[in-house]
Amino acid sequence: MGTRPAQAASQARLAGTTRGSPGEGMAMPPKAMTMPTPMPTEEAELAELARSFNLFDVPADYLDAPEPWMRLLREHDPMHDNADGTVLLTRYHDVRRVWRDRSASVDKTEMFRAKFGQGPLLHHHTTSMLFRDPPDHDRLRALVMPLFTPRSVARFSSFIEDLVARLLDEAAELGELDIVTDFARKVPVSLITRILGVPPEDGEMLRPLGLRVLFPLNPSVSREAIDAGNQAVVAFTEYMAERVRECRRRGIEGEPSSLVETLVAAEAAGDQVSEDEMLHICLLLFNGGHETTTNMLSLGTLALLEHPDQYALVAALSEDELPAAVDEILRYVTPLQLQGRRTTKELDLPTGPLAPGTEVVLCQASANRDDRAFSDPDRLDLRRVPENPQVAFGMGVHACVGNQLARLEGSIIFTRLAQRFPELEMAGRPVFNENVRFRGLQTLPVRVGRPRERPHGETIS
Ligand code: HEM
Repeated sequence: MGTRPAQAASQARLAGTTRGSPGEGMAMPPKAMTMPTPMPTEEAELAELARSFNLFDVPADYLDAPEPWMRLLREHDPMHDNADGTVLLTRYHDVRRVWRDRSASVDKTEMFRAKFGQGPLLHHHTTSMLFRDPPDHDRLRALVMPLFTPRSVARFSSFIEDLVARLLDEAAELGELDIVTDFARKVPVSLITRILGVPPEDGEMLRPLGLRVLFPLNPSVSREAIDAGNQAVVAFTEYMAERVRECRRRGIEGEPSSLVETLVAAEAAGDQVSEDEMLHICLLLFNGGHETTTNMLSLGTLALLEHPDQYALVAALSEDELPAAVDEILRYVTPLQLQGRRTTKELDLPTGPLAPGTEVVLCQASANRDDRAFSDPDRLDLRRVPENPQVAFGMGVHACVGNQLARLEGSIIFTRLAQRFPELEMAGRPVFNENVRFRGLQTLPVRVGRPRERPHGETIS
């Protein structure tokens, strides 16, 4: 392996500190002052392999199974220098520490300008709350939060139940189906169009636009993907601008019942929100609402099918046990795998310090499989108790707005699927998306087997 561009930065960052020490938080004297400790050959080879990991050109087996690579990084290079000078953190307590530190910034303006160039994509990813720091972040987040309180979210329970029951009826008719296209994509898109307040039939047109906006957030993207992202931002925001205009013309009767109404009402009440911000909130919420949830549903179904005892268990869990079970599925599959932050002051992480101005990539997928936080982390255990401090929804000021909604979708869908089709089995090879940030499946063919009777009038609140 040749010299990597990030080495100089890494040496400056690490001056006088340790890195990759196997024991968490173990402090060692400065490298320059000690004789290197000879490592057993296997250790040295593993450390070399970990250092050679390239997030911008992942190994061939990474998309199907990233976990062994993450384990390697956690144990042998937990503050990994990426080729672009960013630092990849893979240990649970390091990831949490950065997330919880209010001084860590999400502002990626300079980085994204270099990556996307000037244009609508840059504008979206620097206008939405996801990439803005307080106080602007807090102002924008406060506008949408009323739609995502536990009480607001519970109102969608019967909508999800009905939709899922209909899709399961269709699946029973078909006998064989693709979990991804026939099921996992349909529920989140229907739900998020309803939340936005746009016609449900427009969901299929909006979904690919949303994906083109998200894809360039991957570490490595082509010029074509960036161009497609730019066009998609324009198409989506023009579409939303029309819905906002319609809503203003129509007026709002009673309490706002959708995101568009909520934003138009806030604007009318003189709250600080520009029309441009409103349109980008809609795009962010649409994207937040569909792709990660779709991936949770398809990866979660795959994980359950690979653990037949857990698939049987999910059908039999009590309502009290369900939230922990869904969190365990989220921990195990972690649909959104990477996050970014920039340090603005020195951060003293358990593995070592990070200098101010370090661009950090947090790998929550790896954090969720770290045995420093979870016993037997590669085991899917729906009864993992008493606590499951999984981090699939992030934490700190940017913790997922839609986490209650995603949990509700997961509770209903996993249980109803397993109750209705106890004999569900794979009917072909699952194919993973080529996406290291938003991990998901392109296809998961299944056979439903003999269905059980559809339960009547059951709802999960
Ligand atoms: C399984 C499904 C989901 C997963 C795994 C997930 C994951 C995440 C994560 C990790 C973050 C934190 C980002 C960061 O720290 O930089 C986040 C933020 C966010 N999520 Fe989700 N999400 C899911 C579903 C949803 C849903 C259903 C919605 C909305 C309908 C949503 C809307 C958002 C928004 C708006 C943010 C930005 C919050 C902020 O910047 O304050 N997410 N999500």
